[in-house]
Amino acid sequence: MCGIIGYIGKQNAAPILIEGLKRLEYRGYDSAGLAIVSQVGGKNGSSIVAVKSVGRVANLENKVSEQLEGVVGIAHTRWATHGKPCDRNSHPHSDCNGKIWLAHNGIIENYQELKDILIRKKHVFKSETDSEVIAHLIEEFGKKYDFKKSVLESLKLLRGTYGLAIIHRDEPNKMIVARLGSPLVIGVGSNENVIASDVSAIIRHTDQVVYLEDGEVAVITPDNYEVFSVKNRAVSKEVTKLDWSIEKAQKHGFDHFMLKEIFEQPETIQNATRGRLVVPEGRAKLGGLRHVADQLRGIEKIVIVSCGTSYYAGLVGEYMLEEYAGIPVEVEYASEFRYRKPILNDKVAVLAISQSGETADTLAAIREAKEKGALTLGIVNTVGSTIARETDAGTYNHAGPEIGVASTKAFTSQLSVFVLLTLMLGRQRGMSFVMGQRIATEMAKIPKQIEKMLKTSKDIKKIAKKYLKYQNFLYMGRKYNYPIALEGSLKIKEIAYVHAEGYPSGEMKHGPIALIDKNFPSIFVTPKDSVYEKNLSGMQEIKARGGKIIAIATEGDKAIQKIADDVIYIPKTLEMLTPLLSVIPLQLLAYYVGVGRGYDVDKPRNLAKSVTVE
Ligand code: G6P
Repeated sequence: MCGIIGYIGKQNAAPILIEGLKRLEYRGYDSAGLAIVSQVGGKNGSSIVAVKSVGRVANLENKVSEQLEGVVGIAHTRWATHGKPCDRNSHPHSDCNGKIWLAHNGIIENYQELKDILIRKKHVFKSETDSEVIAHLIEEFGKKYDFKKSVLESLKLLRGTYGLAIIHRDEPNKMIVARLGSPLVIGVGSNENVIASDVSAIIRHTDQVVYLEDGEVAVITPDNYEVFSVKNRAVSKEVTKLDWSIEKAQKHGFDHFMLKEIFEQPETIQNATRGRLVVPEGRAKLGGLRHVADQLRGIEKIVIVSCGTSYYAGLVGEYMLEEYAGIPVEVEYASEFRYRKPILNDKVAVLAISQSGETADTLAAIREAKEKGALTLGIVNTVGSTIARETDAGTYNHAGPEIGVASTKAFTSQLSVFVLLTLMLGRQRGMSFVMGQRIATEMAKIPKQIEKMLKTSKDIKKIAKKYLKYQNFLYMGRKYNYPIALEGSLKIKEIAYVHAEGYPSGEMKHGPIALIDKNFPSIFVTPKDSVYEKNLSGMQEIKARGGKIIAIATEGDKAIQKIADDVIYIPKTLEMLTPLLSVIPLQLLAYYVGVGRGYDVDKPRNLAKSVTVE
C-alpha cells in the first residue's frame, strides 16, 4: 500500500521520481505527487514546490512542467486509507508554512489524538489524512530543535506504521527517512542517493542498497547516509549488492505477482485486522460500521452479493455469521440477484463483497437493494471505488493492490473481515466474552501460521509436478471448507486451464463419484473438524474406486496418510478459521500447476481483473 521514492544528488530530481513512481505504481494508484526543493542555496534561499494529481502516475507526469528543476525531492503514489482520493489528500503533505514536506506509507493509528492537540496549538490542517499530522508534529518540535531532532521526537509520539521520507526547506541538502512496519530501502549511488519503498524503483540507479529495519532513521545527503535508532544511537548497516533484474525487482524477486501476493498473506491479514481485533476484550471494532451499529442490532437477515472468488468468501462468511452471530444469511451471485425479485425491507442488510469495488453485477445488486429499502454494506478492497462509495456503510479489507488476475490475498483478507464482522455482530447478539476471546486469540495467530506454511511451498511444488498431466480434478470439502473446495477448483481453472469441479463432499455419492477412475484425482479439504469422520468415509469410497487423492489435513493427522496419496498439512486452529489456512496450499497448487504447464499465470487468457461489464 502506497509507494514512496526520494532522490538527492546532482541530477534533476523530477524525471527520476516520476520514473520511480511508475515502478511503484503496483502499490497504489489512487493519486500521485511529488515535492522538489528548488533554488538550493540561491539568493533568496530555498523553496519547495509540490505537484499532485488524482489517479495514475501518468496524470502527475502530464502536470509536472519542464521548468520544475531541483536536485532534491520526494514522491508518493497512494493507495488511499484515510481520506478519499483527491488532490488535497495526495502526498507529499506539508506543515502550516510549506517548510516541511513528507511522503508516508503506513497508518498512524493515534493521528486523531495528535491532530486535536496540534489544532489546539493553532496548526492548520489541509487534508483528511493521518499522514499530515507528522509534518505538523515536526513543525511543532522545530520551534525548539533542529530538523533531525524534531523528526526523532515526533517519531516517538507515533503509534502505527510508517515508511517516511521528509525534506525541509531550511536544511535543503538533506533528506530524512524512517521505517516502522512499512518497507524502506536506501540505494547508495556515487554523489547521489535514492530511497524507495522497494528496490524496483532503485535498481535503475544503483545495485548497492541498505535495507532499513523497523525503528531505524537515516539522514541522507548526496554523498552520505547515516543511520540511527529513534533514540539517536548510531547504527552500522551493511550494504547489500542486488542481483535482480528490473522486472524481477518489481515482483520482489518472485517470478509472478500471483506468487508474491500469495506470500504477502501473513502481512495482508495483519493489515485487515490491525487496530480492529481487540483480543483482550474478545471483540472487534469496525470503524466503517460504527454509524450503523444500532441499525445492525435490528437486522433480521443478511444477504451477501458478490461474484467469483468474492462469492466464495461470502459463502464462508455465511457459515461464520450463522453459527456465531445467530443471523440468518443468504449468499447470492450478484448476477442472479439483480434479475430476481428479491424480497427486501429495512430489516435486511445486503452486503456486497468486492476486491475491485467496481464489478458491474455487484454494483447493480447493491443499487437494486437500495431501491428496495435495504441497508447496504460493503467489504471492499479498493478505497474510494464505486461500491465503497455507494454503500451505506462498510469496511475496507486493506490487502493493498492485487495485480495477479486470480484473486489470492484479497480472498484471505475478505475472510479476515468476516471473522471481525462475526465477532462484532456476535457480541451484539449474545456471544459470550469467553467465546469472543477464543476466536480473537486464534485469529491473531493466523498470520504466523500462514508464514510457517509458506515455508513448505517447495513440497507443494513437488506435488504439483506429479499431477501436471491430469486434465480433470474433483475438489471436495464440507461445512466451512466446502467454499474452499469451490475456490480451489476455481483457482486451477483460472490459471492452469484444467477442468475442476468443486463439490460439497456429502454430495459426492449423488453424481461426481461416477467420474472417478485412475485419471481423475480428487482433492479433499479435510482438517480435523466436526465433519472430519464424514470426509474420511468419502475418501475411502474414492480410494476403493482407484481414484488418487491429495488431502489437506491438520498437522499430526497420521491416519490420513494411509488413505491419501499425498498429504499437505495445515496448522491447528478453530474450525471456523480453517478456511484461512486450507486455501493457501490450494492457491499454491494452482500456481505451480499453471506455471508447470507453461502459462502466464498473472494474465490468464480470457479473464480480467475487474469485470465492469455485465
Ligand atoms: C473477476 C476476477 C476474480 C474476482 C471476480 C470478482 O472474475 O478475475 O478474481 O474474484 O472478478 O471481482 P471483485 O472485484 O468484485 O471481487
